[in-house]
Amino acid sequence: MLVCGNAILQKANQENYGVGAFNFVNYEMLSAIFEAANLKNSPIIVQASEGAIKYMGIDMAVGMVKILANRYPHIPVALHLDHGTSFESCVRAIRAGFTSVMIDASHHPFEENLAETKKVVEVAHIAGVSVEAELGRLMGIEDNISVDEKDACLVNPQEAEEFVKESKVDFLAPAIGTSHGAFKFKGEPKLDFERLQEVKRRTKIPLVLHGASAIPDYVRSSFLNTGGDLKGSKGVPFDFLQEAIKGGINKVNTDTDLRIAFMAEVRRVANEDKTQFDLRKFFAPAKEAMVRVMAERMDILGSSNKI
Ligand code: G3H
Ligand code: 13P
Ligand code: ZN
Repeated sequence: MLVCGNAILQKANQENYGVGAFNFVNYEMLSAIFEAANLKNSPIIVQASEGAIKYMGIDMAVGMVKILANRYPHIPVALHLDHGTSFESCVRAIRAGFTSVMIDASHHPFEENLAETKKVVEVAHIAGVSVEAELGRLMGIEDNISVDEKDACLVNPQEAEEFVKESKVDFLAPAIGTSHGAFKFKGEPKLDFERLQEVKRRTKIPLVLHGASAIPDYVRSSFLNTGGDLKGSKGVPFDFLQEAIKGGINKVNTDTDLRIAFMAEVRRVANEDKTQFDLRKFFAPAKEAMVRVMAERMDILGSSNKI
């Protein structure tokens, strides 16, 4: 059943678990998310970036989600706009049927980010749609980074408190040291859990971890073993994800893991049978690989059997 983001994340916040927010750019990714949720009895957030919306068409993106939500009526699902860059983009998504939107004005100064977020919240809440905003910059932090450098890029907990109070935003993504993509950490993985806990203590709302792909060894190997090149790739370890959930994260944004798992299978089939050109022979195993990754992730995040 299609529900607003709050319906899923308020429960996750009360019961201290994380919900995967999985990106999709086509039918295969989207149906894999629903299949994993069905296997694990897990709520899900399906999210599309502006780029994904442009690729699919907003009517197609919403249409596919509605059809799958009807096919699996017992699964609570929120359709979320990932990294909305403007008020207009958020309104377009709300009008099209999204039940949750992110306004990402985190690259602007605090006051501007706050003003833009407030504007989106006012409209979204009238429509019963939940809103996510971000504070700080997504980037890996290293051991030898100074306190000043950390403060310059990571979330400021005091600002987070003021931001949430003023904007009435539903979820906040605090930058604590993750980054998007396959190369998150140069040295050992490191996240600022203390900062996260302080943000949670001050805001109490569901928090969001961007750049949360883990790139488990079997996913990396499947890509490397089929001739792909992702040497040196590093994700957020599973125990870090669980520590982050303990610290107050409830929405766990995951895209890269699905892309790598999908493309490794496409590559494998292409290598094994050079005469093959039936799309289904590539996409069916690629979809299964994504289902496996997500089903495992739902256990790790604690959302399995939370329907
Ligand atoms: O946050 C980034 C997501 O992985 C979506 O990426 O803009 O390439 O669709 P995209
Ligand atoms: P990953 O690149 O780690 O999958 O993060 C995705 C994300 O944060 C989408 O908003
Ligand atoms: Zn993100």
